[in-house]
Amino acid sequence: MNDKQLVAQHAVQQVQSGMIVGLGTGSTANFFIEELARRQQQEGLKFKAVASSVVSTIKAQQLGLPLLAINHIDGLDLYVDGADEVAPDLTLLKGRGYDLVREKLLAKAADSFLVLIDASKKVKRIGENFPIPIEVTPFAWKLVQRSVAAIGGHGTLRQTPNQDGLSVTSHGSLVLDVVFEASIDGKTLNERLNAIPGVVAHGIFCGLTRAVFCGRDGQVEEHWA
Ligand code: A5P
Repeated sequence: MNDKQLVAQHAVQQVQSGMIVGLGTGSTANFFIEELARRQQQEGLKFKAVASSVVSTIKAQQLGLPLLAINHIDGLDLYVDGADEVAPDLTLLKGRGYDLVREKLLAKAADSFLVLIDASKKVKRIGENFPIPIEVTPFAWKLVQRSVAAIGGHGTLRQTPNQDGLSVTSHGSLVLDVVFEASIDGKTLNERLNAIPGVVAHGIFCGLTRAVFCGRDGQVEEHWA
């Protein structure tokens, strides 16, 4: 069992009967969905799930999890997802996938947002390993690129994996991948990006995390906010 599987197995114990549980997107979130299905089958655990993407919707459907639509819920008890980077203050970078809007919506709406990672995701500062993804309304991309440059960021439009077109998110946005000067911390960036018109959502999740469970060499480290 790898560290992502291990941490998913550990995290599924947080789910209690009757909860509404948000399902994240990515390989770690997939392991969590599998663990939920296992508890449903083996223990008869009763819960409802809300998916953060088409991919996690399909995965949950295939495993027989009971799903609710986002616009049918008033809130949720627990949201469990992976992350691309985690800073010491539990600020996250997310959005290497294409479902940032739903992910942030669920993270904000949940009573508790639980993040599952392996040790490779821990960083000293947000943006250490990846550019910051910024979803932009297509007609706004050029002006957003300029606003981002004014706060010290260099943004390029994300290409498709085979470089023959532009990436489009599940909401029809374009993505600017932005590299900032190392001196700007994640919290400050979060505030500055929130203030730019034309930004649909960005990949910094600040002040939302309840706990991070990190798998390292077969052990789980818990970091609570
Ligand atoms: C999805 O948009 C991302 O935020 C994922 O949560 C992130 O990329 C983690 O993916 P893995 O669990 O596959 O590492």
